[in-house]
Amino acid sequence: MIRNQRLFASSATRRLLTQDGPFHVEGGEVWIEGLSCREIVKPLGTPLLVYSAARVRDNIAEVTAAADASAWPIRIHFALKACYLVGVVSLLQQAGLNVEVISEYEYLLARRVGFSPAQVVVNGPAKRPEFLERAVIDGVSLINVESLSEIDFLESLGRRLGRTIEVGIRINPILSRRLRGPFAPPGSKFGFDVPSGEAATAVKRIARSGFLSLLAVHCHSYTRQYRPDAHRACAVAVVKFLRRVEADLGIRIPVLDFGGGFGARYLMEAHGQTFRQFMRETLDPLVGLAGDRQVIVEPGRYLVNDAAACLTSVLACKRTAHRRWALVDAGRNILPPRENAEYVVMPCQVSPGRTQYHVGDFLCMPSEPVPLSLVSGPMGPGDLLAVFNAGAYTFSMAQDFGEPIPNAILVDKGEWTWLFKKRSVEERFMR
Ligand SMILES: Cc1ncc(COP(=O)(O)O)c(C=O)c1O
Repeated sequence: MIRNQRLFASSATRRLLTQDGPFHVEGGEVWIEGLSCREIVKPLGTPLLVYSAARVRDNIAEVTAAADASAWPIRIHFALKACYLVGVVSLLQQAGLNVEVISEYEYLLARRVGFSPAQVVVNGPAKRPEFLERAVIDGVSLINVESLSEIDFLESLGRRLGRTIEVGIRINPILSRRLRGPFAPPGSKFGFDVPSGEAATAVKRIARSGFLSLLAVHCHSYTRQYRPDAHRACAVAVVKFLRRVEADLGIRIPVLDFGGGFGARYLMEAHGQTFRQFMRETLDPLVGLAGDRQVIVEPGRYLVNDAAACLTSVLACKRTAHRRWALVDAGRNILPPRENAEYVVMPCQVSPGRTQYHVGDFLCMPSEPVPLSLVSGPMGPGDLLAVFNAGAYTFSMAQDFGEPIPNAILVDKGEWTWLFKKRSVEERFMR
């Protein structure tokens, strides 16, 4: 299954490169917005994380158009955890998107980029009390609570401040095994379980509090979804829960927050879906809900994953008993190995031949960030490879391990600017 997904992603990437987009092949070489990868790395070295501003803008346009076309008012909150690079996040902020954060650190970053508190949704299974207090005082648009202790804390904060605090509640409806996402198995640390009655109890606590009011129901269950049936099933479960508690308690919950979990854009399109169709099908179960309702979605990966490639050089090639290896200079210091990563590796110089290489990193770890990849032609030290789908959960999850977190740049209309400069031993450890 996973291997098939990887093969699917590889062939979709090859197709993408034949089109005239920001990432394309020209004269047998991979180019990013008017610059050949070979030229890009000359002054900067490898590994190098390269974002295309055009692709980020295009992805924003897709999401915004989907929101505009929807029958429901939709607020898009970029999940900041997907990318912390200020130059990239600024593109999203300037385009008018909102933001979702999970900690005070992310919140302060969002504020530095220019998001106002009213553009911020606060999530996370456990939040520091001082962060919750700051978020309330600053006036963020929504805090989704995930435990009774958070409800207690916010209630006493409301009492102390002498005002009512609006909150959302994250629920875990527990869907069938096929439709259930990795964030919401039974016993998950996230949110409140619906079947056990915990979610209804939490809603009652909020509804009966003199210092809290329930603004939203939130559910984030998925990662890397390419078909909307799972999101749709989640929406069905959320609507069912909402109807029940509204009827039982005589309240109205105006906001439905469906989180993120959408796949990378070009892969979604390769699966025959667009974000607009995805939204339409996901929100279909809301038809018939009484009154004005607002929808929040929190895409991370969709907006930035396919907007960056990590350029990396082959350091060594070898043949072992069962396979050929091309060992490269990008490791988990920029490509964290994750089950849900979709890294696709291709040589930057297209050459004849079809030899299957395992792409491994330079680190002394048996697990590799980049899975088995087909690279054509003979590989040798110094050859340049591009790892696509490197825009989400790479820099934000990167670590100085073996080598520092590498340089990152933004290419915009044939010019590049710095996003991040790697730190020397002096800068990282000696001050
Ligand atoms: C609550 C919440 N919202 C949004 C996201 C973004 O998800 P994605 O990048 O898959 O769209 C996440 C990711 O873990 C999340 O936990």
